Amino acid sequence: MKSSMFFAAVASLMPTLAMGLVGISWNVTGVPSSGLRNITFPFNIAQTPHRSGYYFAQQFNFVGQRDVGYAGLQPRPDSNGQPIIHGVFSSFIAGTTTSDPNCHTGADGGPGVSCSVDFPGRYADTWNVEISNVVGTTWRGDLFNTVTGSRVHIGTYTLPPGTQGIAGNQLGFVEYYPWNSGTHTCNSLPYSSVTFGVPRSSVGRGSLSDAFEYGDCVGKVGYRSSRDALGVRVQVGF
Ligand SMILES: *[C@@H]1O[C@H](CO)[C@@H](O)[C@H](O)[C@H]1NC(C)=O
Ligand SMILES: *[C@@H]1O[C@H](CO)[C@@H](O)[C@H](O)[C@H]1NC(C)=O
Repeated sequence: MKSSMFFAAVASLMPTLAMGLVGISWNVTGVPSSGLRNITFPFNIAQTPHRSGYYFAQQFNFVGQRDVGYAGLQPRPDSNGQPIIHGVFSSFIAGTTTSDPNCHTGADGGPGVSCSVDFPGRYADTWNVEISNVVGTTWRGDLFNTVTGSRVHIGTYTLPPGTQGIAGNQLGFVEYYPWNSGTHTCNSLPYSSVTFGVPRSSVGRGSLSDAFEYGDCVGKVGYRSSRDALGVRVQVGF
């Protein structure tokens, strides 16, 4: 995709991300017209400081719905000497319902459902965000530790009747959410590092584009990106 198309996609698909820093697009080939029944987005945040502020996320669409879902990780300060990770799984689709104790109605002040969990987890380990169909239009988001094999439930929600599976492409992002309100100076961005892993599903083959900067601090936040065995590493901040 041309960068002008990326920015059109950013504008149309990520209206709430005007204050984001970095985008990346993903796709899976061979997706049936009814969409995927599951998808896995690996993340590695090994070098990220244990402080709140960053959101590393992938977005996804469900066939038949315009609004997106998000899933990903946020760093948190250590608690009782243990590293804490915040896992997120949300839907911006009006009419999404939930009875999961990790979830509540509403997403970023609009319609939808937001689910999250804080848990002690090693930053060095790659965590897979797994999104899978439970039954009908009910979906769950979980985190799977690829080193220990442990699993952490993020949440479960039910989409409006008729909603189908997960569509084969969307965008991910790095956001520093303290900058979503007020003013900021680009050179005050704290350091972070995330590797977006290549997505996987039970059908097809996943790919990631190169990452790209967007927003009002392009070229001013120490952005670096490279590919590694997992996917695409992105570093920003100082
Ligand atoms: C997708 O679901 C199938 C069937 O439940 C499971 O075997 C597979 O591990 C899942 N794959 C991914 C990538 O989540
Ligand atoms: C999928 O993504 C890869 C990497 O960005 C790109 O080369 C390829 O053209 C994409 N395929 C489709 C069908 O969009």
